[in-house]
Amino acid sequence: MSSLELKDIVKNYGAFEALKGVSCAVEPGEFVVLVGPSGCGKSTLLRSIAGLESISSGEIVIGGADVVGREPADRGVAMVFQNYALYPHMTVAQNMGFALKMAGRSRGEIDQAVKRAAEILRITPQLDRKPKALSGGQKQRVAIGRAITRSPDVFLFDEPLSNLDAALRSQMRIELGRLHDELRATIIYVTHDQTEAMTLADRIVVMNDGHFAQIGSPLELYNRPANRFVAGFLGSPRMNFFNAAVVSADPANITVRVEGAGDDLVLPRNGDAALEAGGRIMIGIRPEAFALGAEDGLTFAGIARVVENLGRETLLYLDCPDLKTVDSESQEGYVAVQQSSQFTGRHGERFSFGVSADAFFVFDGDGNTVRFPSSTISSQ
Ligand SMILES: Nc1ncnc2c1ncn2[C@@H]1O[C@H](COP(=O)(O)OP(=O)(O)OP(=O)(O)O)[C@@H](O)[C@H]1O
Ligand SMILES: [Mg+2]
Repeated sequence: MSSLELKDIVKNYGAFEALKGVSCAVEPGEFVVLVGPSGCGKSTLLRSIAGLESISSGEIVIGGADVVGREPADRGVAMVFQNYALYPHMTVAQNMGFALKMAGRSRGEIDQAVKRAAEILRITPQLDRKPKALSGGQKQRVAIGRAITRSPDVFLFDEPLSNLDAALRSQMRIELGRLHDELRATIIYVTHDQTEAMTLADRIVVMNDGHFAQIGSPLELYNRPANRFVAGFLGSPRMNFFNAAVVSADPANITVRVEGAGDDLVLPRNGDAALEAGGRIMIGIRPEAFALGAEDGLTFAGIARVVENLGRETLLYLDCPDLKTVDSESQEGYVAVQQSSQFTGRHGERFSFGVSADAFFVFDGDGNTVRFPSSTISSQ
């Protein structure tokens, strides 16, 4: 168990800057999850820490020592990839002990390390099998086992569960959480899965275009995103965004006009000192903030174009004639609304929802969050 510190890491591929100076201090035993859109540099960062890529500048400090320039095998890290290429002609035990064998460890030492890893991963009964006689989940456990036997200071996981089906994924997710509790290992974990990120992470790093957009605990990032990118990235369906303008501002309140809405809205100020009359802003509303039939704050009346009853909850996409979400996944600007599973409406029906102004996020012209919903403030 060791600390890991990234100091101002830059990685260029020719003229393209894949990592634009990222920094982060990871505590010993911390589970850090790295998320971000495809191509933002997640794998590049993991590969740089592992020594599979050479960085252009910066420092990578593991357990107090700068490991830049060291061979991958001498960095004290083990990486688990999405494509867990196991050696097909070797048994599970041989696959798991291979790195130790190459490092010249004794037979007894290898056997002991393999036995312990197999017990932790619950694959002892499969130790003598070849990979082709294993399920997908068992193969992925062997790939993790190869990392465990090396007792690394830092584990690097690059989307390790993305080849597994949904049921196996959630089982392995729970096992990874248990594994972390047992080993108290320092882990950097890349995933596209929001549930994995929210449930496994001590802290989440949201990455965008080669830099870190925000670092914090899962709930910090969900409740208090620093900017519009993080606000839109975490949460599914994502936050609804609306263009708006500040009509007037005084020390106690701001009055905003949301594009397409009937009336201006008065928001009590909270931490939005920078907002001035005439400024362009964006309002953010999470899907769970909509109350059926409510009339305070902003009202959304329209036709439900899609209704998805997911059992535990119902999602609907509301087509409001004037109030369109901008910066949204849905091209038509439908408003994403989450209701309990008791909601029995059907698509094609007309509904009206209200959202209290207390539930608004406000982003300034640069996309920085300048106001949070009041519920997230009182919980701080
Ligand atoms: N060897 C390379 N040469 C040139 N560009 C590269 C190379 N490897 C990666 N890149 C570029 O660097 C950027 C970051 O790639 P990277 O693989 O780190 O993304 P990622 O965040 O892991 O994406 P994904 O979620 O799709 O796995 C991309 O634009 C990619 O095209
Ligand atoms: Mg990747």
